[in-house]
Amino acid sequence: MTNNLLKGKRGIIFGALDENSIAWKVALRAKEEGAKFVLSNSPIALRKKDIFELAKITESQVIAADITEISELEDLFEESMALLGGKIDFVLHSVGMSPNVRKGIHYTELDYDYMQKTLDVSAISLHKVLAVAKKLDAISEWGSVVTLSYIAAQRVFSSYSDMAQAKAMLESIVRQFGYHYGVAKKVRINSVSQSPTRTTAGTGVSGFNAFFNYADAMSPLGNADSKSCADMCMFLFSDLSRMMTMQNLYNDGGFSSMGISNKLIEQYINCGCGE
Ligand code: NAI
Repeated sequence: MTNNLLKGKRGIIFGALDENSIAWKVALRAKEEGAKFVLSNSPIALRKKDIFELAKITESQVIAADITEISELEDLFEESMALLGGKIDFVLHSVGMSPNVRKGIHYTELDYDYMQKTLDVSAISLHKVLAVAKKLDAISEWGSVVTLSYIAAQRVFSSYSDMAQAKAMLESIVRQFGYHYGVAKKVRINSVSQSPTRTTAGTGVSGFNAFFNYADAMSPLGNADSKSCADMCMFLFSDLSRMMTMQNLYNDGGFSSMGISNKLIEQYINCGCGE
C-alpha cells in the first residue's frame, strides 16, 4: 500500500537493529511511501550486520554514529545531506537502552553511572540530535522528527526501572525543543507512545510477556504492532500532519484510556484471589 506520502522527502532513521526493530518497519514503509534516507546505528550494533540487509532492500546507505557523540552526529548530518542531495525532511529517533535494566538491578538500588547512561542514550540523545541539526540548519522547514516513548513516562510499570525517567525526560524534550525549533524553523517534533512490542529492547525488560499480555487484554483494539507504528510515523513525517507538534501520541489500541476491561474482570472473578 503506497500513497506516496513521502515522495521526494529525505530522512535519517536511527535504531534499526534487526527485523523486529520498530525502526526497521518504519524504514520499509518510508521506502514504500517514496522517501530516500540514511540508516544509522551505533558501531557496536552494526556488527550484527542485519542493517546492511535492510539497506539493500531500501536502497539506502548506512552511516555509523553513536547517538550520544556530538561529533559523530555532526558527521552523520553532513554526510547524509551530501548523499541525499539536500536538507533532511524527517528523522526517526528509535533508540533506547538501560544498563540497569540489562543487568536486572532493582529500581531502589540503581547504579547511578548506569542511570546517567540510560538518560544519555534514551533521552538526552534526542536533544543532541536536535541541537546538532539546528546548529547545522540540517532540517528543512516543516520537517518532522519522531521519537518512540512508552506510557511508563506517566504511570508506574514496576519493572521498567530507570527507563521510566528516560521516557519522561524524552517527552519533555519533545515539548521544549519543539517550541524552540518550531519558532526558529517550523520544525515539528512529536513522540509516539507505543504498545509493548517484541523487539530486542522490549523483551529486555523483565516480565515483558506479562506487560504484553496484560496490555493486550486491557486494550479494546489489542496491542498495536510495529507495522501500525510505522504507519503512524508515515502520517507524522508527511505534510498531512503539518500543524502537529510537541505532542505525545498513543499508538496503543486504547490502553492509555482504560481502567479495567471485561477480559481482565473475567480473569480475576474466577481466580480466587483475595477471597
Ligand atoms: P530495538 O532494540 O530494536 O531498538 C533499539 C535501538 O537503539 C537499537 O537499534 C540499538 O542499537 C539502538 N541504540 C542503543 N544505543 C545506541 C547508541 N548509543 N547509539 C545509537 N543507537 C543506539 O528495540 P525497539 O523496541 O525497536 O526500540 C526502539 C524504541 O522504541 C526505543 O526508544 C524503545 O524504548 C521504544 N519503545 C519500545 C517498546 C517495546 O515494547 N519494544 C514500547 C514503547 C517504546
